[in-house]
Amino acid sequence: MSARVLSLPGDGIGPEVVASARRVLDAAASRVGLALSWEEGLIGGAAIDAEGTALSDATLARARAADAILLGAVGGPRWDDPSAKVRPEQGLLGLRKALGLYANLRRIAVHPALVDVSPLRPERVSGADILFVRELTGGIYFGEPRVREPGRAVDTLVYTDAEVRRVCKLAFELARGRKRRVTSVDKANVLASSRLWRDVVVDVAREFPDVALEHQLVDSAAVRLVTHATSFDVIVTENMFGDILTDEAAVLPGSLGLCPSASIGEGKGGLYEPIHGSAPDIAGQDLANPIGTISSAALLCRHSLGRADVADLIDAAVSRALADGARTRDLGGRLGTGEMTEAVLRHL
Ligand code: IPM
Ligand code: MG
Repeated sequence: MSARVLSLPGDGIGPEVVASARRVLDAAASRVGLALSWEEGLIGGAAIDAEGTALSDATLARARAADAILLGAVGGPRWDDPSAKVRPEQGLLGLRKALGLYANLRRIAVHPALVDVSPLRPERVSGADILFVRELTGGIYFGEPRVREPGRAVDTLVYTDAEVRRVCKLAFELARGRKRRVTSVDKANVLASSRLWRDVVVDVAREFPDVALEHQLVDSAAVRLVTHATSFDVIVTENMFGDILTDEAAVLPGSLGLCPSASIGEGKGGLYEPIHGSAPDIAGQDLANPIGTISSAALLCRHSLGRADVADLIDAAVSRALADGARTRDLGGRLGTGEMTEAVLRHL
């Protein structure tokens, strides 16, 4: 039986990086006789233009039916009108929520060959390997009420015990496959939701006596990320703190363009996307770094298709291409998106 993968390229550089990841994934899968059946759908601004909504019912139905989804990016200046009722981001947020993808895994690891590409000093980044577990379907991103009226606006940050528990539990489980250290990041000195978060994570930790738990306030965690990145193993945090800290941490390996992510929930299906955005300034120019999306395709194989063999092939090819000096412009090199893809394919 062939695996059904839905491709949602989206906007900006999304279509370029997804096309590149698809080539690499197809090539790796065919090495081991895995048949993939691809479907393509619209999301974000592209869907607004064609269908009037950022996520149509038809696309959502196909997303539910797929074994996994590979997504590029959503958004761009064309749809940035602040008063607009439909926004590209609604497509991505709606998909995460509808599919119950409550955990976003973003591993930030510094490739040895890229230590000098990082804007931080080599001794600060060398050996850094952090797994972020970002809560993805709660918090201020989804809380009600949400109000915008003249002179006043309201967003609501709400978490339930159950929402915190399941994502923290996952973080501890994942820590068992790593260095068994979890840092829970919150703002418990100010926010009630963070005090709930802290109570729940302490309770979850009782089930994992072999894993060390520490708490850190988000502001000081932001500093520690750039001063002592290697002191972290697993970081678990709420939705918006995770959004911000993972962009910050993506500086460590040298470029946001390198970093993949997996969004998973109770089911087998998951959503895989690079952590970068649609980068409209370089869209359509063959300049984007496809590695974040290629590595997301590897995660897709590992987590949703149960094909670690294919994932290992892809990860090894990426690693060898980087070790061999393949560099897009964000990494200080000259390769275009297509050339970088070729470099990975050559090492497959
Ligand atoms: C991300 C992005 C999204 C988010 C945007 C596009 C809604 O920044 O995946 O990190 O904030 O979650
Ligand atoms: Mg973000």
